[in-house]
This record gives sequence, C-alpha cells and structure tokens, in this order.
Amino acid sequence: MAQLGVNIDHVATIRQARGGMEPDPVAAAAIAEMAGADGITIHLREDRRHIQDRDLRLLRETVQTKVNLEMAATDEMIAIALAVKPEQCTLVPEKRQELTTEGGLDVRLHAQALEKAVARLQEGGIVVSLFIDPDPDQIKAAAKVGADYVEIHTGCFAEAADGKIEEQELIKIENAVKLASKLGLGVNAGHGLTYTNIKKVAALGGIEEFNIGHSIISRAVLVGLDRAVRDMVDLIKYA
Ligand code: PXP
Repeated sequence: MAQLGVNIDHVATIRQARGGMEPDPVAAAAIAEMAGADGITIHLREDRRHIQDRDLRLLRETVQTKVNLEMAATDEMIAIALAVKPEQCTLVPEKRQELTTEGGLDVRLHAQALEKAVARLQEGGIVVSLFIDPDPDQIKAAAKVGADYVEIHTGCFAEAADGKIEEQELIKIENAVKLASKLGLGVNAGHGLTYTNIKKVAALGGIEEFNIGHSIISRAVLVGLDRAVRDMVDLIKYA
C-alpha cells in the first residue's frame, strides 16, 4: 500500500494570518501521525509565508515518522536542510507570486545546478526527490542528475476540465510511473489530490507515497468545526 505524507503548510498559513501561536503545525503533525500518516511534509518557502524555520527545527525533533522538506534548490535552503537533516528533501520550483507550486521542475534546463544540489544533499545523508511533471524527458533528466525519487505532479490531472482530459492525464501519470521505475527511481506523487480523485491515482499502483495537503486540511476545518463550536458554547453557558 502506498504511504501518505500529510502536508501541514495550511495549518501554518492560518497561524500566520494572525501572527500568533495557533494553530501550531507541530501539534498538527503529532495528530496526523497518531491518525496514521506515514510522513509529514512541509514547504519552507523563501518568503516564509507559512512554515517558519522554527517549525522545521521543532518538527525535526518531534516527528516520529519522517520529515519531507519541500524547498527550492537555493544555497540558503540547501544549507538549512544540511543543518536540520530531514529524511527527505523534495526540490520544487518556486515563484514569489504564485499561490502554490504551479508545476514541476525543468530538470533538463537546470540539470547542472540540480545535479550539484542533489549531490550536496545526498552527501548529507538526505534522500532527494525532484517534483516534476509526468513528462518522459523530465523523468530521464531526473535519473541523469542522480535523484533518488521523483514526485509526479498530479495537478493537471486534478484540474482536468472534463473526463476525457482527466483520462489522458491519468495515462501520462501511469506512463511516468512505469518509466521512472524502469530507470531505478522511486516514485511519489502529489498536488491537487482530493478525497474524490485519489482513488484513480492510487489504483495505478507503483507509487510509493502521496503528499496531500489542501484537501486534508480543508476537510479538517469542516469536520472539526462542529466540535469546536460546541466547546465554545459550553464555556459560555457554564461560565
Ligand atoms: N507536493 C508538492 C511538491 C507540493 O508543492 C504540494 C503543495 O505544497 C503538495 C504536494 C501538496 O499539494 P496539495 O496541497 O494540493 O495537496
């Protein structure tokens, strides 16, 4: 069975909205692990819009499964990763203005820089994954630069306008998984996966780990709201 990495960035996004202490992604990670998550995924962005350096440091100490650090392949981030040593780094492209990661890395274009980044992280004992589109050329390039894993970007599948496009995107993912495995790469997948669309991708087989964030945290807000309101009503009633 494939593993689930829970991305808790959105918990930090809610905290940052008030600049205070709650909700704490460190607490969220503990709950996710108790519920069966196989790993905790966080994206330390250059602009620190959600996850902070403090979160990474504390999660490194408290997470009992594994920490998967998504990051841009910059000198600053590589230095942080080598100091904190998450089990896995997933290298992603990063643009300042984007709402979320908008697509996979262009490994062919940035092969030289990525090869160096991959080697530096691996020398530090960190497993390295490259977030890429389900494109055969990018998969071959990922193998060439020495990555351990690829994370297949499932965003186009998730956002497909109709069933026909969705089917085409699913076939691209299926072929990408096969090619990556043939080249000796481990395969993860993520982005835009939901309680509805996960079934089709999980049924493909060959994917080791799914990294899912937005849909899980969105559901958590709704399924947790009933209890949260009842708790506050009780406090007011019995004050
Ligand atoms: N994988 C990668 C590389 C990502 O950048 C993200 C978003 O941070 C995810 C997975 C999770 O995507 P989503 O929040 O849409 O589930």
